[in-house]
Amino acid sequence: MISSFQQFIKEQDFEIKHALDIGCGGGEYLNMLQKEGFKTDGIDSSKTATKITTQILNNNSNILCADMFEFVIPQNRYDLIFSISTIHHGTKKQIQNLISKICDALVENGKIFITLPNIGDAIEKGYLKNEQDLGDGTYAPSSGAEKGLPHSHYTKEEVQELFLEFKNVKIDLDNAGRKMGRWIVQGSK
Ligand SMILES: C[S@@+](CC[C@H](N)C(=O)[O-])C[C@H]1O[C@@H](n2cnc3c(N)ncnc32)[C@H](O)[C@@H]1O
Repeated sequence: MISSFQQFIKEQDFEIKHALDIGCGGGEYLNMLQKEGFKTDGIDSSKTATKITTQILNNNSNILCADMFEFVIPQNRYDLIFSISTIHHGTKKQIQNLISKICDALVENGKIFITLPNIGDAIEKGYLKNEQDLGDGTYAPSSGAEKGLPHSHYTKEEVQELFLEFKNVKIDLDNAGRKMGRWIVQGSK
């Protein structure tokens, strides 16, 4: 778990305590939030992931198997929407649309915590050299389970532009113990 996520939850005020995790994986983050008194919703495109997450959370949660770019997020519902190591699995256009939907789904002053890969690091360390270059910082793996699936990578300036709809935006670079650095974006509606 990203340690700054726990710090972020401690530092912020959440009035309704209703969270949505986009790409919930095995539910580690939602489990932590449930223990902190949050109502927890999550989506993931993997059936296995949603099954595991459903099993570890109580019945008050809503965990769905869905594609984040297709999923209709209810408007004005959440005071926390977060997505860790997930929303870059698409084209930059898809991701921009999703960020707008996230803004619509937050109540006033609702918070975001979102990570995105740092393109500078990925290029410098040679991680993209065997991938298919789709242009505009988007690459697709040439082999493996995610073969052909676009993965978008960002400069800090691009991240700033992506989150223009939000206020109090804070962008940090997380390199801790990672092969490839990622941007951590915090902000509020
Ligand atoms: C690297 S895992 C991160 C899981 C979790 N957020 C974490 O940090 O432990 C990425 C997750 O994103 C999910 N995912 C990938 N593309 C997705 C999509 N289009 N819609 C929803 N989930 C997606 C995968 O199934 C996977 O569970």
